Amino acid sequence: SGTLGAAAADSGRYFGTAVAAGKLGNSTYSTILDREFNMITPENEMKWDTTEPSRGNFNFGPADQIVSHATAHGQRMRGHTLVWHSQLPGWVSSIGDAATLRSVMNNHITTEMNHYKGKIYAWDVVNEAFADGGSGQHRSSVFQNVLGNGFIEEAFRTARATDPSAKLCYNDYNIENWTDAKTQGVYNMVKDFKARGVPIDCVGLQSHFGAGGPPASFQTTLSNFAALGVDVQITELDIAQASATAYGNTVRACMSVARCTGITVWGIRDSDSWRTGENPLLFDNNGNKKSAYDASLSAL
Ligand code: XIL
Repeated sequence: SGTLGAAAADSGRYFGTAVAAGKLGNSTYSTILDREFNMITPENEMKWDTTEPSRGNFNFGPADQIVSHATAHGQRMRGHTLVWHSQLPGWVSSIGDAATLRSVMNNHITTEMNHYKGKIYAWDVVNEAFADGGSGQHRSSVFQNVLGNGFIEEAFRTARATDPSAKLCYNDYNIENWTDAKTQGVYNMVKDFKARGVPIDCVGLQSHFGAGGPPASFQTTLSNFAALGVDVQITELDIAQASATAYGNTVRACMSVARCTGITVWGIRDSDSWRTGENPLLFDNNGNKKSAYDASLSAL
């Protein structure tokens, strides 16, 4: 098949991209989007600072634009993200009372998920909750500091009760190398959730790679998570300088793991990337396919 989305679909997978609502009117952008991609993650529009800028005041306009586009073009949606320490409004990060924060977190989850009920394939329920470095523990955040270790479990239980048909994912970066303490910390959390019946369906590995591409253990990491009984997805792929080899290796790792169900790149053209000057994507600034595109398509 001649496009990323169609080639991925041949093995029951998807190929997605992050999308910015403000770019949908650009015809170069939307032509590539609708030709190549069959899954969409809003790059910023479903984050807390946009969707609930003040307590109880919800703004779904920008994300609704993306969801409408996806519906009109037969693309599925990944919801990103419900609970995250970043792009979090100050009114949330300054809450010090646990009962208040618990109520605010659960209300945010239920209101956003209910708004999009039936339209989201998978939600990143909790994003980036683990610390970098050697601790293997949760990072400091208002949720961790005020609610304690149980906040992740609480978020997943609330999410399942709200939309039982959406897949519920934990998403993080720097969990691609198997032996890293952060990878082990997330792995142990998922193992514990599965053992205790805490609802979790998938793990997203963001996969923001340097020029060398994925670590040698990447496929091992994907298959070890999958062996816990969750799907795995590559959720925010970009690779410094986007060598064909690095992209090909990344796509092949997913293709080699039955429960690696899809790949999403974090933007369309290099000029759309948050990694300014790194040229980390599959299309150049003019929308032309790069060698990394051909390598990715061949690997699907
Ligand atoms: C990034 C966006 O691409 C930028 O536009 C924004 O300024 C910051 O966030 N991990 C995530 C994504 O989960 O939401 C982040 O997206 C990149 C890192």
